[in-house]
Amino acid sequence: IGEKPLAGKRVLVTAGGTVERIDPVRYITNDSSGKMGFAIAESARDRGAEVTLICGRTDAAPPNGVRVVKVDSAMEMHDAVMKRLPNTDVVVKAAAVADYRPLHRAAHKMKKSNESLTLELVRNPDILQAIGEWKSEAAGRDKPYVIGFAAETTDLEKNAIDKLIRKKCDLIVANDVTESGAGFGTETNIVNVYGALGLIERIPQMTKRAVAERLWELAQSGMNAAKS
Ligand code: C5P
Repeated sequence: IGEKPLAGKRVLVTAGGTVERIDPVRYITNDSSGKMGFAIAESARDRGAEVTLICGRTDAAPPNGVRVVKVDSAMEMHDAVMKRLPNTDVVVKAAAVADYRPLHRAAHKMKKSNESLTLELVRNPDILQAIGEWKSEAAGRDKPYVIGFAAETTDLEKNAIDKLIRKKCDLIVANDVTESGAGFGTETNIVNVYGALGLIERIPQMTKRAVAERLWELAQSGMNAAKS
């Protein structure tokens, strides 16, 4: 990329799965590899952006040339994202955030005793929604531009558009995680990109890096359209 279309932009990307601790040696997490978020961070870096990667549990090391903030839980990710919003131009929420966390986190390794054990879970904050609300709180707050993800197994389009509206995103990147070549852990992805007016583009199966390049092109035209 010759001309650095994201020069001067501060981009915040979340990637990977959150880790919700039960006790010092046990936790709840998910299958997110972090690869889609890493590809988005790399692509933004190469387009000239100043990139901060808020990184949960991932399968690989994060890319070079970006600022990496490691977090564990959804609560930590929430705080890390929210405190940076005033200094952010674009947020991409590629992380797989746990919807629930254990109500209690035991200070010591839990001992086995009874035949069954009930773990009580409570809701985590929805970070993407909190970003949307922060942005619409103050009139005239036109930043950051918000890109969310939706991993679905049914009703891709309806769920994606519902999420876009509820979470006040500018773009939603939706994939059907039941399709082969898409979703968790794979090297490639197949996504549909939605905006406020509905489907913007179907991106066929390609590497996550190539998907990331296309997403930045769409986001750049979205941001330019908002300006003019
Ligand atoms: O509702 P769902 O989890 O499918 O929404 C996916 C999008 O919302 C992703 O961009 C994800 O990073 C974000 N999300 C979040 N905080 C949550 C749950 C999801 O930011 N607690």
